Amino acid sequence: MAYNPVYNGGAPFTAFSSVTPATPLASLDLNWREQDLPERTRTKHVHRLHPYLGKYIPQLVEIFLRKFTPKVVCDPFAGSGTTLVEAAALGIDSVGCDISAFNCLLAKVKTDEYNLEKLGEEIRDIIYRTSLALSPSLFSEQFEGQADSEYLNAWFAPHALRELLCFRSMIPRYEYQDVMKVILSRSARSARLTTHFNLDFPKKPQTEPYACYKHGRTCQPTEDALQFLSRYGLDTLKRIEAYSQIRKRAKVKIINGDSRTARFPKIDAVITSPPYVGLIDYHEQHRYAYELLELPVNEASEIGAASNGNSKRAQGDYVVGIAEVFANVRKSLGKDGVVVIVVHDKNGFYESLAPQLGFKTEEKLLRHVNRRTGRRATEFYEEILIWRLNE
Ligand SMILES: C[S@@+](CC[C@H](N)C(=O)[O-])C[C@H]1O[C@@H](n2cnc3c(N)ncnc32)[C@H](O)[C@@H]1O
Repeated sequence: MAYNPVYNGGAPFTAFSSVTPATPLASLDLNWREQDLPERTRTKHVHRLHPYLGKYIPQLVEIFLRKFTPKVVCDPFAGSGTTLVEAAALGIDSVGCDISAFNCLLAKVKTDEYNLEKLGEEIRDIIYRTSLALSPSLFSEQFEGQADSEYLNAWFAPHALRELLCFRSMIPRYEYQDVMKVILSRSARSARLTTHFNLDFPKKPQTEPYACYKHGRTCQPTEDALQFLSRYGLDTLKRIEAYSQIRKRAKVKIINGDSRTARFPKIDAVITSPPYVGLIDYHEQHRYAYELLELPVNEASEIGAASNGNSKRAQGDYVVGIAEVFANVRKSLGKDGVVVIVVHDKNGFYESLAPQLGFKTEEKLLRHVNRRTGRRATEFYEEILIWRLNE
């Protein structure tokens, strides 16, 4: 088994398109600092259609896809669709499964193919019609909708909520409704009554002016959503256009379900980053979207759900859940198939799971994650485990 050197003295590897099946993975320095792989590169084109906590680095996926050249790749923890987006960019078919309906919506919008002219017309039209329906006028009908959700009424200023609901009421007019839903969700995230410095984990609505650490002054919670709908509408269009230029024709199948029991087609690679125990709540982080879009909630089936904590019992349940997922995908994996798992396996769960599930660990690569932020107080390494079937 090969361990790659943590630092080889030079600049980390960034010639992603040069990777071929002959590239020895263990020779690659994947310890990117911010300057080696800046945020705008990690969030290029559709990778930033909507913020998502727990996304992995697209360039990592690209390396493994180029190295293993699968015909069909599977991501049983597809999240916001990073694996599927990178696969389609290389003309590789993919199947992804995720328990969160919102994540599946995001992955679908990122990987769908579009008539760009029509998409542009629709996005501009919905922004125009929304502004018209919100402005007092003798000549057009005014929007009068209200929310009957306690969450929405608590987390948005009345003016912002009216704008969001007005945009939502327009969505059924259009062909590309899922794109509109993502624009609505991203705008809602920014328009919530939160402080500017805590958009990820706001605990309670911020209704008063506050001392803002991010901007170094007193800031007001926002009362407006239209500016976001308009800005993110055009940004979404730009990002989808950019991805359309580089993506190839490839099939993408997205399953909104539980990967322990989902039925996957034949695959020859798995590339995935599983959830951790008790760390991220994959439904709650997008609660505004679930409320606005009335999406089904499957929180109870999340493996490692944050709400279950990190107790011994939660850890035990986690290992059983993860084992069931890999046992399930194994049934669909061809005999020369490969499994790539990107995980911070501090408890060694995955190391001991491999032989129990009929896999052998072929390689284990290390990546120094907090080199990027420059914070060295606690060292944090991510492992990349490469499993093969153990005949
Ligand atoms: C670390 S995230 C994956 C992120 C993804 N690699 C990306 O870049 O967007 C783990 C994902 O596992 C999903 N998940 C948790 N339990 C699941 C289950 N039982 N079946 C399918 N997906 C599940 C969560 O909803 C979450 O999106």
